[in-house]
Parts: sequence; structure tokens; C-alpha cells
Amino acid sequence: MRVLVTGGAGYVGSVVTAQLLAAGHEVVVVDDLSTGHADAVPQGAVFHNLSIAALDPVLGDWNIEAAIHFAAKSLVGESVREPALYWRNNVVGTIALLDSLRAHGVPRIVFSSSAATYGEPEQVPIREDQATRPTSPYGSSKLAVDLALGDYARSYGMTAVSLRYFNVAGAMRATSGVSYGERHDTETHLIPNALRAAAAAGEPLSLFGTDYPTDDGTCVRDYIHVVDLADAHVRALTVGGPGEHHIVNLGSGTGYSVRQVLDTVREVTGRDVPVVEVARRAGDPAVLVASNERAVGLLGWAPTRDLTQMVADAWEFEQRQG
Ligand code: UFG
Repeated sequence: MRVLVTGGAGYVGSVVTAQLLAAGHEVVVVDDLSTGHADAVPQGAVFHNLSIAALDPVLGDWNIEAAIHFAAKSLVGESVREPALYWRNNVVGTIALLDSLRAHGVPRIVFSSSAATYGEPEQVPIREDQATRPTSPYGSSKLAVDLALGDYARSYGMTAVSLRYFNVAGAMRATSGVSYGERHDTETHLIPNALRAAAAAGEPLSLFGTDYPTDDGTCVRDYIHVVDLADAHVRALTVGGPGEHHIVNLGSGTGYSVRQVLDTVREVTGRDVPVVEVARRAGDPAVLVASNERAVGLLGWAPTRDLTQMVADAWEFEQRQG
């Protein structure tokens, strides 16, 4: 299949592109490099430095059969300070993309959605039919696109899949020897921050909140290896039919506390992780764990890489980056 990947110079987008190429697909990447890195676009993909809002004049020439859409702003804290940025980039930008896909007869889209669409869950594990009450403009922007996809699928006969990620971690080592991993200029995620704290010159890790109603007082999250996550995208390209929109959680179904993650980082690296315990971070729910029954049923997918593997692969990537 000839696949358009928006945001293919970013963390998840680059891993999905590498996996699509390995599965024999042709890939056209568009990325405006606002947060992505041109050298993260895997060899073998055609790359265009373009915004999703500027695709319309060129898309007709590319013979695209499906789009996988990652290009978005993705920092929860920034979204609270600058909601306009999130509504404009993630929502207005995506509507422009959908209209271009529609105008040029691209019938299928897989969208990078988020557990942030649920907000504070009413029940754990979280099923896809739970109430969606996002607690940040980032979550609202992802939910708005999920809603638009349902409408576009129903009324325009598109096939759409929204993949709602829980906590993505780890890195991919391609057979070429090239590695793809998390290279955010502003790093907010726990595992890369803990690895940096474990590295010799690292600042201590700030542990946000030790008074949550969980076994050890720290937040519990459902971590999913980026390679498993990418595999679900490849599978999502062939599910559903015209007029259908499927929403699918991508998580392991198992939760780990922040302290458990830090213990894993200590075991894998053989180093200490200096920690300072600080106040809760605004908007962090106590527990987020996915029900992945729908992913298993619809995509025939199940994660195969555990937390130790995620931390080990992220550590190897971090060390290669220096
Ligand atoms: N944490 C720390 N210190 C850090 C970073 C994180 O203690 O330096 C804690 C957080 O408070 C949280 C846990 O580690 O309890 C995980 O935090 P991450 O930032 O790694 O991930 P989140 O669960 O906040 O974010 C994930 C996705 C977001 C999505 C969000 C939905 O990465 O895209 O879930 O709640 F919006």
C-alpha cells in the first residue's frame, strides 16, 4: 500500500514509518520539522518538509491509498498555557488534512489519538465506551478530531481508526542498525527523564506527587512499547470499511507506579536514579490503565514487550544519542 505518514519525523511517526517500510509498504512522509528531526525519517521513505495544512495542491500527485496522521502538538502543560496553538494545529490543521484526503479520494485514515481524551477515568481498566472528559486542551483537541472522524466516516464514506495511546516508551533498532527513539527538545515523559537522571551528569528526577490513592502513593500508568504500538498501526490499515470509524485503546492492560518504573530503571541501568519528591503535577490522574480487549479483537494485536524491555531499549537509544 502507498501510505502518507504525517509527522513521520517524530518519535512514534518515525518508528511506524520504519515498520511500514519493513512490511513492504511505500511511505510518503510529510513533516514541518517544528518538533521532528529530518534525520529521523527512515531511509526508503519519500520526505516532504510541509505542513498538513499545505498538502492540498500536491496530494493529488502522490497516489496515496491511506494516511496515518501523527503531526500534532503534544505537550499537556503547553496546551494549558496556549490552547489556541492546540486547537489551530491539532484540530484546524487536521480538518484541512481530512478535506484534502477527501478531495483527492484517499479513503482511509489512522489517527494518533490519546488516553488524554478520557481525562479522570470513572473506571479502570478504561474501555473505549467510557465517558470522555479531557482535562487539558491537548486532550480536548484529540477528542475533537475523534469526533470529526466519526462524522467524516459516516457522511463521506471514509474508513477511520482512532488509536488511543496510553504511555508510549522504548525505542526501535532497525535491521539497518539505525535507532529511532524519543528526542523531544522539551522532555516531559517519565522514562527518558529518569534515564537522564541515571546518566552521570543528570539532574535529579522530580517525582510529581507521593500522596495519590495508590499502593505506594505515586501515579500508576500503562506503558506500551513503541514497536508494539507501531505494529498496531500497520494492522489498523486493513480493518474496517467505508463509513466505519473504530476507536481502539493501545495499552498493555497492566499498570506500574512511578516508583516501580524508577526501580526498573535502576535495575536496567545498574545506576542510581536520584529523586526529589515534589508536589503533584496539575492534571495528572492517579491511575490510567487500558482495557485492550478491543485491540485484541479488532486488530488481532497484543503487546509482546514488557517494561524492562522498554527501559532497556530507551536506555540503549539514550546512550547512542550521547
Ligand atoms: N512523572 C514524574 N516526573 C517526571 C515525569 C513524569 O514524576 O519528570 C510522573 C507523572 O507525574 C506521571 C507519570 O510520571 O505520574 C507519567 O508521566 P508522563 O509525563 O511520562 O506521562 P503522562 O501519563 O502524563 O502522559 C501520557 C501521554 C500524554 C497524554 C497523557 C494522558 O504521554 O500524551 O498520558 O494523561 F496526554
